[in-house]
Amino acid sequence: MTTDTIVAIQDGVMRITMNRPDKKNALTGSMYDAMTAAMEKADASDDVRAIVLEGSGGSFTAGNDLADFLATATRGAESRAFPFIRKIALLDTPIIAAVDGVAVGVGTTLLFHCDLVYATPAAKFRMPFVDLGLLPEAGSSLLAPARLGMAKASEYILMAEAFGPQDARDLGLVNAIVEPAFLGETAMNAARKLAAKPAGALREARRLMRGDRKELEAAMERESAAFARALKSPEAKAAFEAFLNRAKG
Ligand code: COA
Repeated sequence: MTTDTIVAIQDGVMRITMNRPDKKNALTGSMYDAMTAAMEKADASDDVRAIVLEGSGGSFTAGNDLADFLATATRGAESRAFPFIRKIALLDTPIIAAVDGVAVGVGTTLLFHCDLVYATPAAKFRMPFVDLGLLPEAGSSLLAPARLGMAKASEYILMAEAFGPQDARDLGLVNAIVEPAFLGETAMNAARKLAAKPAGALREARRLMRGDRKELEAAMERESAAFARALKSPEAKAAFEAFLNRAKG
């Protein structure tokens, strides 16, 4: 059994830990599958009223594992990121992210779907899709301009510039910046508070706040078709190989 994803439930809170610290918690197919299954379980269970998503070892996640991307592209297979993205985007259970260190690719775009986000001063957000010959996913082509404004969305998606926790907080992507020693507890305390509220009203309020999901679903469909094509492109393969074969100083 793999320990790359740890799922624990206590006091009505499901804590999902991406646990591949030596690879900055880069996400493999089996990690996506485990997280998708955990979130499905949370939505189906009356005992889980909030989810906390975190990384281990001082990173949130370096995004999709690039060796996995290369293997998927070479096989012409479907990326297992898509069911995960769909699940987190359409989740019913409130979800809180605790971000320390790198939050790359889907590590940033999944935050658009979280209800609360806490980050440490070391948090670093980046959406390097275009630099990798790829395209924005998880509804971010719709949500980044809507949430951050077109100017910032262009800086972060087209220019693929990294940004820090202060910018993220100023833009409304992060609720608060907390020291690493308090990150997990801050997220867990918020989750326990949510878990103690009337569950039906909480989920319904969340649904109302998120509005009609059709536009988001349509954006994700457009994105995943374009992303699947881009994944197999020579420029994406070259970018994955360049990262995997890079000389380390
Ligand atoms: N896929 C596969 N392996 C990854 C990875 C990824 N997305 N991100 C990091 N790793 C691995 C590195 O290859 C390295 O492994 P090694 O020690 O066996 O060589 C290890 O994780 C540590 O990463 P390293 O690059 O040495 O750490 P860093 O602090 O210098 O840089 C990042 C961290 C995240 C900035 C850098 O690793 C990076 O750019 N990763 C790729 C991110 C990415 O493009 N994700 C896909 C988005 S769609």
